[in-house]
Amino acid sequence: MKIDAFTIFPDYLAPLKLSLLGKAQEKGIVDISIHDLRSFTSDNHNTVDDTPYGGGAGMVMLPEVWGKAIDSVLRDDSDIIVLTPAGVPFTQRVAEEFSQRSHLIFACGRYEGIDDRVRQHYESDEYKTRGIRVHEISIGDYVLGGGEVATMVMVEAITRLMPGVLGNPSSLSEESHNDEGWVEYPNFTKPAQWRGISVPEILLSGNHGEIAKWRESQAILRAKKNR
Ligand code: ADE
Repeated sequence: MKIDAFTIFPDYLAPLKLSLLGKAQEKGIVDISIHDLRSFTSDNHNTVDDTPYGGGAGMVMLPEVWGKAIDSVLRDDSDIIVLTPAGVPFTQRVAEEFSQRSHLIFACGRYEGIDDRVRQHYESDEYKTRGIRVHEISIGDYVLGGGEVATMVMVEAITRLMPGVLGNPSSLSEESHNDEGWVEYPNFTKPAQWRGISVPEILLSGNHGEIAKWRESQAILRAKKNR
């Protein structure tokens, strides 16, 4: 998978080189390029934004800069992901769908977002027939300073689903037994007693059928309590 991310703060996305994702890049499973949006500006001040038509607070990112940036990497199979709190909620299902794709472009907006004509342009039939799709995505109902952290969240959730990225892929097949990825039973390790609290007896029984049943009931209880 190829990933291109555009931002005015490239250093913000530097952690994408670390840990499992760093290893996945060394193994050639995923290739991540982080681009400085300002390198697609054409004025001396490297301007990326301007005041909104119609008035109002904040600044809007310029369509020409984003158009040049996206065109520089666009392919026939690209998915353009625009991070915005007004987007479609990002879920495990969405992560699974993106994990099957070959080229993801992340557009990290700042300020009041990106001129909407960028979305309209790449949603036109010309691009649709080339297999190019635009997705406005939100990682949750809160407002971040920009799309950078949201991009990191998405890249981590998507890439860990790709074959060869996780050290122990069986944790993936266990997750896939539940519908949304967040129904998880509580876990315990050594010692069997800690600060006066014992590990549930059933987990020491060796009875795998009963353990599976117990875990399922615990996962449901937890989901009811927390969700
Ligand atoms: N940019 C600002 N807030 C965001 C959010 N919640 N999700 C995605 N992108 C954002």
